[in-house]
Amino acid sequence: MRICIVGAGYVGLVSAAVFADWGHHVVCIENDLQKVTRIQEGDLPVFEPGLPNLVKRNVQEGRLLFTADFTHGIQEQDLIMIAVGTPPGDNGHPNLTALWNVVKALKEYARSSMMVAIKSTVPIGTCDAVSRYLNADTEFRFDVVSTPEFLRQGTAIADFLSPDRMVIGCRTDSAKQILKKLFEPLECPVVFTDWQSAEMIKYAANVFLATKISYINTIANLCEEVGANIHQVALGIGLDHRIGPAFLKPGVGFGGSCLPKDTQAIVALGEANGVDVSLFREVLRLNHEQHMRVVKKLEKCLGGLEGKKIAVLGLAFKANTNDVREAPSLAIISRIVELGGQVIAYDPAADMEALRRLLDFIPAADPYEAVTGADAAVVLTEWEEFYGMDLQRVGDLMNNRLIIDGRNLFAPQVMSQYGFHYVPVGIPKQAPVFPITK
Ligand code: UDX
Repeated sequence: MRICIVGAGYVGLVSAAVFADWGHHVVCIENDLQKVTRIQEGDLPVFEPGLPNLVKRNVQEGRLLFTADFTHGIQEQDLIMIAVGTPPGDNGHPNLTALWNVVKALKEYARSSMMVAIKSTVPIGTCDAVSRYLNADTEFRFDVVSTPEFLRQGTAIADFLSPDRMVIGCRTDSAKQILKKLFEPLECPVVFTDWQSAEMIKYAANVFLATKISYINTIANLCEEVGANIHQVALGIGLDHRIGPAFLKPGVGFGGSCLPKDTQAIVALGEANGVDVSLFREVLRLNHEQHMRVVKKLEKCLGGLEGKKIAVLGLAFKANTNDVREAPSLAIISRIVELGGQVIAYDPAADMEALRRLLDFIPAADPYEAVTGADAAVVLTEWEEFYGMDLQRVGDLMNNRLIIDGRNLFAPQVMSQYGFHYVPVGIPKQAPVFPITK
C-alpha cells in the first residue's frame, strides 16, 4: 500500500517505520522543517528504544520518506493516517488545532478520493465532524476511519507489533477490508465499531488505567499504615483474572502525555453532558496527592525542607523515555522549592535545559553528582541506571543516608545493610502494634 502518515511524534514515527518495514511505501509528513531535516540525519525527536535503527533501515531501503511538503505528500496515497498531537487545551478539552489544520489542508489539496484514518486521540464526535466537513461541497469522497492507538512510550514498537487488540471505527465495508488487510500481520482480535465507540474506547481504556493506578496507590498508602506489604497484596489481587496483574505498581502517581490529559478530557466530557464523573475527578485529585506524598515523606523525615539539599533521581514520567510532560517530578520539584529546599536533579534522557526554563533546580551529570552532600535523595523514575548504582558510594557521598523511593527499586533489607533510612511505597518500616480488641 501507499500510506501517508501526518505527524512525526512517537505514534506517527513508530507507525510509519513499522508499516514501511512490512513493505509498504510510506511518506511521513511533518510540518516542522527542522524536525524533518533532523529525522533525515538520524536524529529522532523522540527517545524510543529500537526506533532509530528501524527508521534508518527503511529510509535507506527507500520505503520511508520524510517531507514537510503536504501538497506533494498526500497525493496518490491509498491511506492518509493522521497522528498529530492533541495536547491539553481549555477547560480539560484537548486542543484540536493541529488536527483541523491537517483536515483543512487535506480538503484544499486533495486531487482524488481518499481514506483518512484518525490515529490521534480525539473527542467523541470528531470523526463525524471531520467526515461531514471533508465531504461537503466536493467531487471527491473521503472515507473517514477511527484507528485509536494504545502504544506506550518506551515499548511502542513491541506494543505496535503485539497489541492486545486493534480497534477500528468505520462506516464502509471497503474501509473495513482495507484496514483488515493492512493489519493482517498482527495476530490479535480486531474490534470493528462505529466512530463514536472507537473514540470512546481510547478514552475509556486510558481512564481505566489511570483509575487502576490511583486505586493501587491508595491501597499502598494504606499498607504503609497498617503493616501490609503492597508487593504481596498486588500479587494476591492481580491473580484474580477479573482484575489482572498489570498496572498494579504503586508509585509517585501517573504522568505522561496521555493518562492525565485523557482523564481530564473525560471529566470535561461528563460535565458537558451532565453525567456524574466525580469518580474520575477524584482519580486526578488522588494522583496529585500521590505526587505530594513524596514531599510530605521528605518533610516528615527531615523536619522541614528549609535550606535542605534534595537529590532528585529521575525526571521523565517513566523509564525509557525523555518525556517530561505531566511528569510527577515537575509538581514534586516545584513543591520542594516552594518549601525552601534546593534540588539537584539527574535524569539519563530528559532534556535538562528545557526543564530548567520551567523549574528551579541544578542539573547533575550523573546520580553520584546529584547525591553529593544531599540531605535526602528521592527516586522518581525507575531507570535501570539507578538499580545498578554503587550504594556504598551513594551513602558515602550523602550528607544523610535518607532515600525516599517512589518506585520501589531496592530491597529494604539491602538498603538497611548499607545504613540507609529507606522509605519505599506501600512497605512499612516495621509492623504496627495493634490494640487487642475482644
Ligand atoms: C499510556 C497507555 O498505557 C497507552 O495505551 C496509551 O496509548 C498512551 O498512554 P504511556 O503514557 O506511554 O501509555 O505510559 P504507561 O506505561 O501507560 O504509564 C503511564 C503512567 O503510569 C506512568 O507515569 C507510569 O509510571 C505510571 N504507572 C504505570 C504506574 O504508576 N503504575 C503502573 O502500574 C503502571
